[in-house]
Amino acid sequence: MSTAARTHGWSPSSWAAYHAAQQPEWPDDGALAAVLADVAAMPPLVFAGEARALRDRLAAVAAGDAFLLQGGDCAETFAAFGADAIRDKLKVLLQMAVVLTYGAQLPVVKVGRIAGQFAKPRSSPVEVVDGVELPAWRGDAVNGVDTSAASRRPDPARLLRVYHQSAATLNLLRAFTRGGFADLEKVHVWNQEFVAASPEGRRYAALGDEIARALRFLAACGVDVRNDPTFHTVDFWTSHEALLLDYEQALTRQDSLTGRWYDCSAHMLWIGERTRDPDGAHVHFLSGVDNPVGVKLGPSATPEAVAALAARLNPDNAPGRLTLIARMGAPYVEDALPPLVRGVRDRGLSVVWSCDPMHGNTFVSATGYKTRRFTDVLAELRVFFGVHRAEGTVPGGVHIELTGEDVTECLGGAQDIADMDLAYRYETACDPRLNNEQALELAFEVAAMLRT
Ligand code: PEP
Ligand code: CO
Repeated sequence: MSTAARTHGWSPSSWAAYHAAQQPEWPDDGALAAVLADVAAMPPLVFAGEARALRDRLAAVAAGDAFLLQGGDCAETFAAFGADAIRDKLKVLLQMAVVLTYGAQLPVVKVGRIAGQFAKPRSSPVEVVDGVELPAWRGDAVNGVDTSAASRRPDPARLLRVYHQSAATLNLLRAFTRGGFADLEKVHVWNQEFVAASPEGRRYAALGDEIARALRFLAACGVDVRNDPTFHTVDFWTSHEALLLDYEQALTRQDSLTGRWYDCSAHMLWIGERTRDPDGAHVHFLSGVDNPVGVKLGPSATPEAVAALAARLNPDNAPGRLTLIARMGAPYVEDALPPLVRGVRDRGLSVVWSCDPMHGNTFVSATGYKTRRFTDVLAELRVFFGVHRAEGTVPGGVHIELTGEDVTECLGGAQDIADMDLAYRYETACDPRLNNEQALELAFEVAAMLRT
């Protein structure tokens, strides 16, 4: 039993006694209950032992012995579901991980925002389209993105579809990462054609050549490169925002080995900036499961609030359990981050510090697209690393919204995407994602920041 379960009468459903922000208004309670019963009868998507293994890896991150790379879509959708998109997202994450591992000489813990990232918190519950007020889109787990009243009506049947799409996605990820695709001898294959000719692609190919040489060197020294699984498989973990507590509850299971509870919808769950009230339902719910958990922290977070979150979510101060994901915004991070880092350090709290340089840097461009500047993303990252260097703490990881495709959603980068270019391939259902080249460029930049 977790500490919370022992001391606060926690159960998978006890969150319902707390205020749960950002929950949909499902029109039909009976229909919701029936779907949740179906989800609860489904097999778990991940196993407790896997979540424990990720906690161990994150404990290494907290100690500065590994680096966390977490990334994927802002929102997965039913429409963009397909094998190619999953493969390409995995490819770019593997490429980034290779760049970071080689550049920073640290093992990289790879966590996708994938196989479950279907629910979105919204700043406003409604949206006005052509003078008509509609419920806001809350992710494909809840309603449809199309701007009609019928589409925006929350439909609980979508939760079952989320489960099945997550299961199919995870199945393919497991196949790719275990079945030879993630083979270190295939680093060149992860470089996509449209990137290969770009400066970042050439830089990556050169690194691939060096890795191939290093592997041949190891083989020549007598290391069994061919048969050692270290070189041929990768550990890849899944994560999403634990927003819809009914759904998370339905996938929460008691581990038969340890008796502890795990939210088996993903290896790692996080709490968003809008739902991190230490006294709220989201914090209560995740306090009782033993998965590694994250909390987003925006510029309004105080050292006291962070201490309260750590007390609830990690009362045993176990390394690897709690990841704090700072998402301050380039203009604010310099002032907002140091008090939090000092507060955590001075209280002796064991956390992984990760930087989400995306969510504090979103704005609407002159042409009307929600976008982010690549320069702002890098600027926030630089300050994040600088603060940790100054405070003697560990900059543990990054949390990025990205896609493996050649989209035009964020401004700048080596292709110098301009406002006028955004319309060309703006495909995100929610927040703007780095495209493949921008993601690779970011990995090279972060590797350099980690080295200094
Ligand atoms: C997100 O990660 O997509 C998100 C909504 O982040 P935040 O809670 O930090 O705003
Ligand atoms: Co987002």
